[in-house]
Amino acid sequence: MEAIDLRSDTVSWPTPAMREAMANALVGDDVYGEDPTVNLLEAEAAALLGKEAALFVTSGTQGNLVSIFTHCGRGDEMILGREAHTFRYEAGSASGMGSVHPHILDVQPDGTLRLDQIENAIRGQNIHYPRTKLICLENTQGTVGGMALSVEYTAQVGALARRYGVKLHIDGARLFNAAAALAPDDIPGTARALAADADSVTFCLSKGLCAPAGSLVVGTRAFIDEARRTRKMLGGGMRQAGILAAAGLISIREMIYRLPQDHANARRLAEGLADIPGVRIDAARVQTNMMFFDLTPDAPINADTLAERLKTEYNIYLRPLYGGTFRAVTHYWITRERVDCVLQAIRALLAQ
Ligand SMILES: Cc1ncc(COP(=O)(O)O)c(C=O)c1O
Repeated sequence: MEAIDLRSDTVSWPTPAMREAMANALVGDDVYGEDPTVNLLEAEAAALLGKEAALFVTSGTQGNLVSIFTHCGRGDEMILGREAHTFRYEAGSASGMGSVHPHILDVQPDGTLRLDQIENAIRGQNIHYPRTKLICLENTQGTVGGMALSVEYTAQVGALARRYGVKLHIDGARLFNAAAALAPDDIPGTARALAADADSVTFCLSKGLCAPAGSLVVGTRAFIDEARRTRKMLGGGMRQAGILAAAGLISIREMIYRLPQDHANARRLAEGLADIPGVRIDAARVQTNMMFFDLTPDAPINADTLAERLKTEYNIYLRPLYGGTFRAVTHYWITRERVDCVLQAIRALLAQ
C-alpha cells in the first residue's frame, strides 16, 4: 500500500499471508454447506465469541440487515442510535426493504444509549403502537469517535432487553477494537464478554482485520439457521466463498491480537496533531483507531485545500466530512513511521 490512506480502516489491503492463504484455500459450494473453509471460519468465529453458531455474510451492512430481519417482522420496531451506522449509512435498508420501524435515540459522547431512554422507548401493548422487538448497539461507536462500550454497560442493556422480552443486536463492526481498548491482554475473552448478553452480533473482517471482504453474524444455532435463510433472501449466498474465508481465518486467528498497535498509532497521531498550530483535536477522547479533528478558523488553509494538497503533494489521503471535520482512522498499513510522515506533512502545510 503506497499511499498513506487514513480515510477509513476499510481501505486496508489484505496482508501477504492472506493473499497466500486465499490462493491455496480449499473451496466448495457454500450455499450447499460444502465449503470447508467457510465452515471452519464460521465454527471458529462462533467459538471465539462464545456463541453456538455463525454465518459468513458479504458485509457489515448485510450482517446487520440479516440480523434485523431475522429478529423483526414488517412493522416491528427497533431502538437504535440516531448516529448509528445502521440508521445513518445503510441506505435506509431496514425500513426500505424490511419495513422495520426505527426508533432513534441520541448517542451519548461515550457511545452509549441512555438506559432510561431505552426503557422509555420500549412500547407497551397497544394496538396503536408498533411492537418493540429489538435494541441495537454499536461497538465501537464510530460516529462519536470509535468509543468502546464496556462489558458492564452491554450487560445492563442485555438485562433490560430480557426484562421486556426484546432482543439485543450488536453492530460490532469493530468489536475487537473495543475489546483491545478495554483489555489489550485479553482480547478474545473481552470480545466474548461483550457478546455474552447479545442475541446476535455482527463483526467485520474487512476493516482493521484486513480481510478483503466479509463479516460474520453470531448467535444461537436456531437464530443462525433462520439468518442463513434471510441471507439467501438478500442474495448473500456466495458459493466458493472459501477464498474470502481463508483471509478471514487469519483475521480472527492473528489480526485481532495486533489491534493495540493501531490504537497506539492513533494516540500518537492525535497527540502529534494536538501539537500542530491550526489543528483542533481532543486527543484524550481517542480510545481506539479513530479520531476527529478540525482546523481552527485562523489556519492558513481550509480543510478542502489541506486534503487536496496532502493527496497531490504527499500521497496522503484524508477526507473532510461534514463541516470540514476530518476523520482519521489507523489500521495495519498505517505504521508508526507513516504516522510521523503524516504529522510532518500537516505541520508543513499549516505552517505556510
Ligand atoms: C459501525 C459500522 N457498522 C457497519 C458498517 C458496514 O460495513 P460494510 O461497509 O462492510 O457494509 C460499517 C462500515 O464502515 C461501520 O462502520
